[in-house]
Amino acid sequence: MQDAAELQAHFAEFGQSHVFRFWDQLDDAGRTRLRLQASGIDLAALARIQANLAAAAGAVPSELEPIEAERLPDYGGDVSRASRASARGDEILASGRVAALVVAGGQGTRLGFEGPKGAYPIGPVSDRSLFEIQAQKIRGLRRRTGHDLPWCVMTSSATDDATRAFFRDNEFFGLPERDVLFFCQGKIPSLDFDGRLMLEAPDRIFENPDGHGGCLTALAASGVLDELTDRGIDTLFYYQVDNPLVRMCDATFLGYHDEAGAEFSCKVARKTDPDEKVGVLARAAGRVVVVEYTELGDADRYTRDDRGELVYWAGNLAIHLLTIDFVRRVADDADRFLPFHASEKMIPHLDDAGKLVEPDSPNGRKLERFVFDALAAAERVCVVEAERSSEFSPVKNADGTDSPATARRDLIASYHSWLTAGGISPADSSAAIEIDHAKIDGPVDARGLGVRGAADAGDAIRIASGDSV
Ligand code: UTP
Repeated sequence: MQDAAELQAHFAEFGQSHVFRFWDQLDDAGRTRLRLQASGIDLAALARIQANLAAAAGAVPSELEPIEAERLPDYGGDVSRASRASARGDEILASGRVAALVVAGGQGTRLGFEGPKGAYPIGPVSDRSLFEIQAQKIRGLRRRTGHDLPWCVMTSSATDDATRAFFRDNEFFGLPERDVLFFCQGKIPSLDFDGRLMLEAPDRIFENPDGHGGCLTALAASGVLDELTDRGIDTLFYYQVDNPLVRMCDATFLGYHDEAGAEFSCKVARKTDPDEKVGVLARAAGRVVVVEYTELGDADRYTRDDRGELVYWAGNLAIHLLTIDFVRRVADDADRFLPFHASEKMIPHLDDAGKLVEPDSPNGRKLERFVFDALAAAERVCVVEAERSSEFSPVKNADGTDSPATARRDLIASYHSWLTAGGISPADSSAAIEIDHAKIDGPVDARGLGVRGAADAGDAIRIASGDSV
């Protein structure tokens, strides 16, 4: 840690001396806290990031071309190709080369839930948390493949303590503790519109987690990447904590990724509404890019082909496969491949009198890295179409679209479809049901159960009493 006077002089050089304006009022512990935090902030790097933001402002990729993808059979995809990919994926899983990676460092502001989003109770009958449902899926995979499958859980300083405690309190949801690899992402200060740091307390600079793209650098910095390599893992299945429908380490996706020799693969779903707020995958200057919905111009947004399909149809589901070598390469050159993006936010801060200001309009910029920016570094990218209704239903908002209510509805619909595929009749076709993924993880498992009614499946299938959907 730097000496206080030196540190203050250094901050003054970068026009940030105001950070120490309550110094005289701080006790020793407060001064130590502020010195420690300030010593860890790279002001030169922050200045570079700001200069890059200014240079990149408005630099939306032009001359887009539509993306090619492995399509679902309903949209012209080849059934035999898909089943070959699935068999290949099963082999890869059985060889123990894959780990799952969940990014769970976000602050979940829209949902407004006390605690990490992964602890949110989403099970339609049991109220199982998002984490528990995902753990069940991993247990299901371990059962089917007969192989350990490490689960990397990225937290942030906002979620780390509570997430670890939640796993401990729930005995790691039945998984061996050594196979849950926690690591904490980095932080970066937010800035006001004049590029100045802000204080959230007299002894604390306001910082936020560095975005889901921070997982690539944090995997390397934490040593988790090396541990995965030591365990013989060469592929990571990336997903976001708020999607209870995620098809964990989907074998077909893995098979296509492997056959294509891809370094970075993406699952996409067909946009039906051109105004849907989702980034789309496209090509720009020969590379695969994600164009955010705010950046897609009207001409591209509404263009349809002769079959009436949107030309820029491929909505990004934030479900990826990445090779470990690729992650290492991107992490080693993060400034180049993972640029920071700024979004305007309302940031509570102290005014000069030390009073907490809770703004009602944006007063600063939060800086974040996006994982999909790493696409620019990939020599080979594979894009696979997913069936949205059975694979994607994120919990983002407290109500309305992408909320707990829609995610529960989609989980129940998906469970009913497994029972139908397995020839299992539910006690009541309108009942809310829930399936334990550790025991039955998809229609194939449901078919193999050999029971005729859901009530005969013991606690693998729970049926709500009295509730209807
Ligand atoms: P979102 O962008 O939806 O953010 O993150 P959020 O934190 O869940 O919710 P809001 O925007 O504050 O309401 C998508 C995924 O990326 C993770 C989140 O945990 C979620 O799984 N994420 C996001 C991180 O892990 N770290 C971050 O810094 C940001």
